[in-house]
Parts: sequence; C-alpha cells; structure tokens
Amino acid sequence: MREQTLLQDLFTFIDQSPTAFHAVANLEKMLEEDGFVRLKENAVWQIKQGGKYYVNRNDSSVIAFVMPEGEPLGFHMAAAHSDSPCFKLKEAPEIVVDDYYLKLNVEKYGGMILSTWMDRPLSLAGRVIVRGKNGLESFLADLDQDAAIIPNVAIHMNRDMNKGVEYNPQTDMQPIIGLPDRKGAYHEWLAKVSGVKKEDILGEDIYLYNRDKCRLLGIGDAFIAGPRLDDLECAFAGMRALMEERPKEYVNLCAVFDNEEIGSGTKQGADSTFLKDVLRRICLCLGVGEEAYYRMAAESFLISADNAHALHPNHPEKADAINKPALNGGIVIKYHGSQRYATDAYSAAVMKEICRRADVPYQAYANRSDIAGGGTLGNISTAQVSVNTVDIGLPQLAMHSALETAGAKDIGYLVKALKEYFRQ
Ligand code: CO
Repeated sequence: MREQTLLQDLFTFIDQSPTAFHAVANLEKMLEEDGFVRLKENAVWQIKQGGKYYVNRNDSSVIAFVMPEGEPLGFHMAAAHSDSPCFKLKEAPEIVVDDYYLKLNVEKYGGMILSTWMDRPLSLAGRVIVRGKNGLESFLADLDQDAAIIPNVAIHMNRDMNKGVEYNPQTDMQPIIGLPDRKGAYHEWLAKVSGVKKEDILGEDIYLYNRDKCRLLGIGDAFIAGPRLDDLECAFAGMRALMEERPKEYVNLCAVFDNEEIGSGTKQGADSTFLKDVLRRICLCLGVGEEAYYRMAAESFLISADNAHALHPNHPEKADAINKPALNGGIVIKYHGSQRYATDAYSAAVMKEICRRADVPYQAYANRSDIAGGGTLGNISTAQVSVNTVDIGLPQLAMHSALETAGAKDIGYLVKALKEYFRQ
C-alpha cells in the first residue's frame, strides 16, 4: 500500500514537472507544505537550531536543509539533477514552410536519443521573464496540451529507414504546431498560459516535452515507464527522505541541480559555487567561524544520486561482464577507474552499510572497459566542495530516451536508504 502511494506521488511529481523550473517549483511546494522556510540568496539569513530551510538559484536548482538541535558536526548531503535532455526553442522560433505549415526552430538541450522524439504528441513549457510593476518578474509557463509533433519521413520516401537513420537536429527535428495563418500564435499562447501581456515578455526559456504520463507496465506491474525518470526519480527520493527524517548531529541537506545534462557549468549547476555558498553561509549564520566550515566539511558525506544503466534485454553485450544492474535489484553503486564516478572503497563501504541497516538491496555498476560511459554530478560537485562522495543511482533502461523504463520497486529502496542515511 505504502509502495503504491509512493509511486503515485512520484508519478504526479514527474507528470507535473515538464522542465527543471517546474520540478524545482513542485519540490519547493512540497517543502513549504512540510514547514520549510524559504531563504533568499540576496537577503539576510536567520538559521535556528532544529530549523528547516530551502534556497533556490535561477528557479531551476534548489538546496533544502534541516538543522540539528545542537551544534552540527558536519553535513549529510544528497544530490540529484532537475534537468533532462530535450529541445529548447530558439529566441524567434516560428518558421513558415512553403505556406503549408507553421513549425518551431529548436536546438538540442543535452544528449537525447533523437529518434524517440519523433511521431509523438509534444507540448511546450518553461519560464518567461516579464516587465512587472516591481521590475522583472518570472512566471512558469506550461501549455499542457498536445501542441506539436515531429513527423518522420515515410518509409516509402526512405527505404533505408530501418537500417539506421542519422537525424540532423537542425533539419529533421523541427516540430509542426499548426498552419501558416497562425503565425504569431506562439507568443500569444506564451502570454496566455503565463498570465501576462505579450508585449511585456522580455525573455523566455521554453522547451519541448513529451506528453506521455508515467505508468506501471508489465506482468505484476514490474516496471515503470515515463519521461525524465533520469533524474527526477532521485530528485524526488532525496527530498522525500529529507522531509521524513530529523537529524541528530549533522545538517541534513538535499541539493537538486540544474544543467547536469549540459555539463553542470552554469551559475546554478553542480560545478557552480551554489552548494559551497550555502554550506559556508550556514556556518556564518551559526557564528562558528571559518575554521568550523573546514572542520565540518571534513566530517561530511555526499550521496550523489543519478540514474544508472540496467542490463539491456536485447543487448546484454553492452554491459560489463559482472557489474550489470538489474531492474528492481536495488540501489546501484557506480564505480569508475578514472573516477568519473566519485565512488571509492571508503564511500562504497559507507553506502553498503547504509543499505544494510535500511535492509535495502544494492548492486554494482561499471562500464565495459572499452566504453567511455557518461558523467554525473558526484565528481563535478566535489571539485567545488571536496567531501567523501559515493555515486549511486536507480537502474533504468533507455537513458535519455523521451520515454524511459525503470523498476517499480527501486524508488522505494532509495527512499528507505536515504531515510536511514539522514537518521544517522
Ligand atoms: Co542523469
């Protein structure tokens, strides 16, 4: 029963979070409902023992933390990312095609599987910046209707279609949204769903998203399928666990960073000063001094949670000989010889102990030695805040597809393990 509720909450969260801006707004809503107090980076912070707080940057990254009753020894941190690969609309996106169609000029955001975006209903969402009474104001925008589609070329026009197609992001991936007589409708729509005047819109970050909802799938509901499972599963689990536990001697903290899919190098990404600034500011507010920050950092731990590759049913040869995760096989601890995953013997041991105490299964992932694999948050954020870090994730298939597949049980394992971690 509890597992069903957790999955339903996860599905609702992902369905309502088409972009990183929406994911952060929804996480903040959950935090507010749980009594967390908002801190602003450009205002004075007052932090009390036992208090619960959150702070965001760019409305697309958020860090939430819970203070212990006494003076903290260090930070128990979890991190995940709010963004997923998708298409971003260019500044002036409307293109008319030969008086036949109105389409949108888009570019890639991150490394998606292009073919999975074809022939499926898409919509548009993001944020707009408008001229308000008190200066510039930000509004969320979500069209929330079947608005666009990127049609494939018919097989009759490309007989080699099933031999593998190379999709060009500039020529092949532009979605149609209507007929040429509706030129200008895009900005009218944007104004309408944001609740603002068209002429007041000064800036926009708008993306295409897959209209599919999350659902259970397979015999015995073994699987879940949905968009953006990487990494909204882990973002949700991190915040849920943070809200459900009270710390004893450490500051519990969960960071959800934007821009992991494009290398984390933005002002709000894992490679920014965001986390370091928050940690240092907590120390400053506690009045414990600079020395305490370094002492606490040395006593801290980071669980970097970003989804991992499960063994592929049709391509088992893509996996390592032994370290190949199974769906519903539990939390994946990721290892990499060149430390693209930050896990080492010490941090792996800590994670295994957490899982053992939480009575949660865990498994190992390593790339095949002849495959480069992907990066994640762990080793990037430790360049800014150098603490013991373990890279973990939930096993999934088709990472960076418009529709991804994962195990139905694993999200429950992650929440349980992170609760155990935050309880210490
Ligand atoms: Co990811």
